[in-house]
Amino acid sequence: MDIFNVFIVPTQTAPSSWSYLVSGLYILAFGLFIYGLMGLTGPKTAVRGNWIAAIGMIIAIIATMLNVPIRNGELGGPAGSDASTPTINWVLIAVGLIVGVALGIPPALKTKMTAMPQLVALFNGVGGGTVALIAWAEFIETDGFHHFRDTPAGPVVAGSLIAAIIGSVSFWGSLVAFAKLQELLNKNLEKSLVKAAKSFQLANIVLMVISLAIAIFLAVDAANGGGASVWWIVGLLIASGVMGLFVVFPIGGADMPVVISLLNALTGLSAAAAGIALNNTAMIVAGMIVGASGSILTNLMAKAMNRSIPAIVFGAFGGGDEGGAGAAGAAGGTVKATSAADAAIQMAYANQVIVVPGYGLAVAQAQHAVKEMASLLESKGVEVKYAIHPVAGRMPGHMNVLLAEADVPYDAMKEMDDINGEFNRTDVAIVIGANDVTNPAARNDPSSPIHGMPILNVDQARSVIVLKRGMSSGYAGIENPLFYLDQTSMLFGDAKKSVDAVIEELKAL
Ligand code: TAP
Repeated sequence: MDIFNVFIVPTQTAPSSWSYLVSGLYILAFGLFIYGLMGLTGPKTAVRGNWIAAIGMIIAIIATMLNVPIRNGELGGPAGSDASTPTINWVLIAVGLIVGVALGIPPALKTKMTAMPQLVALFNGVGGGTVALIAWAEFIETDGFHHFRDTPAGPVVAGSLIAAIIGSVSFWGSLVAFAKLQELLNKNLEKSLVKAAKSFQLANIVLMVISLAIAIFLAVDAANGGGASVWWIVGLLIASGVMGLFVVFPIGGADMPVVISLLNALTGLSAAAAGIALNNTAMIVAGMIVGASGSILTNLMAKAMNRSIPAIVFGAFGGGDEGGAGAAGAAGGTVKATSAADAAIQMAYANQVIVVPGYGLAVAQAQHAVKEMASLLESKGVEVKYAIHPVAGRMPGHMNVLLAEADVPYDAMKEMDDINGEFNRTDVAIVIGANDVTNPAARNDPSSPIHGMPILNVDQARSVIVLKRGMSSGYAGIENPLFYLDQTSMLFGDAKKSVDAVIEELKAL
């Protein structure tokens, strides 16, 4: 077997030199995907890695487009394998590309950094939806797994059924994730959904059984010659889609980062399954890269949150229950307000200050001001470090990206496990727009919805200054007893304005 020929739509005649060019381009694209992904392992090489992978994708698209005239026999080579193979419509592909580019580029350029997770969830969902539609189209194209043209029946049937289930789960689940992150769901409705987690579990078991039963029926039918009604595949897509909705509906705030990563991994795996059905190696390779890297990221994030993936998918955690820790604070604690002048004095006379950034820093776009404040402190002999929680903000690496944008040195950004031991010998921890990731209830209060989630040990610092606009809760919807501790004082206001005010005071000292 000619190994190069596996990258193109198979023909029964010898491949032309054009076919070899397409295969070469695909191999180059795969190399660039993998090399680009390696760049994403560190903030210094991430932007370059992204560009390299994007160039790989452009090359893969060119290869796919070149494959069309080869397959149609328009480049002097042989046409598809049998006379019934339809020619591929160039115009439709070009229109699809134009629509995709027109819909994809504007939101990618315009979306604010704080809304990126929603955009990622939406783009991810579109990928899953596409795969589900491919599975449906394959079913129609093969007359219900009855008539197979180029590709052997086994891979088409198995790939299409797996793609239909996972793609549909991923599409509908990602839409719910988008709606939750965009805060489109009414808060009370969201709380009721989280509380009803147990009922959703039961429904999901029933839906999973129905989906598997339809898939097995279609596979057995295909083995007996196929030809089942199209309504069977539609039923499969509906049952799996409702399962996708029901899995994500009851997932609480603090678990959303892991779920988004899980959905991303599922989309990759479904694309690989569709690639098997279409006998398209490019889709298999790209899907497996997304599936494998997404699975590793999901596992790492679940570990960072001290959660198991089944517990996230089948449980309800961080679901906006206002009880637990919050009750303690709200029940009688008092909050001390401070001023920019006091904050500046405390930090200027400290040996070490730890900056704890969170989502509010991104909202306020205070990263450049924070860097300026840190430089001023350093010029006064204060050591400044940044404590980065793995799920601070709204997407993995959110804080690293923001701080890197302001030229904060990478070695000053410390991961949670590296910095947590330092808080108890730190004079001042300044919390800038962070909330959930500093909540000591996660450590101390077994009744808290986020109990067990690792947090930054901010409460162990000698003095804590919290910059936020008011007393609102964070993403998980629970109160934070940190704000009521003796050593804590609150500098109320927009984080950027507060840091600017502290800078003015530092300059005046
Ligand atoms: P959060 O717990 O969401 O708290 C952010 C705080 O910032 C809020 O309490 C808010 O209080 C304050 N804030 C908002 N705008 C501000 C502004 N302009 N100036 C000053 N403060 C402002 O943030 P976190 O500590 O970073 O925790 C992240 C949460 O998001 C976790 O629960 C995590 O599970 C979840 N999550 C994370 C991800 C990823 S992958 N990172 C994805 C989805 C969800 P005020 O309104 O009172 O100012």
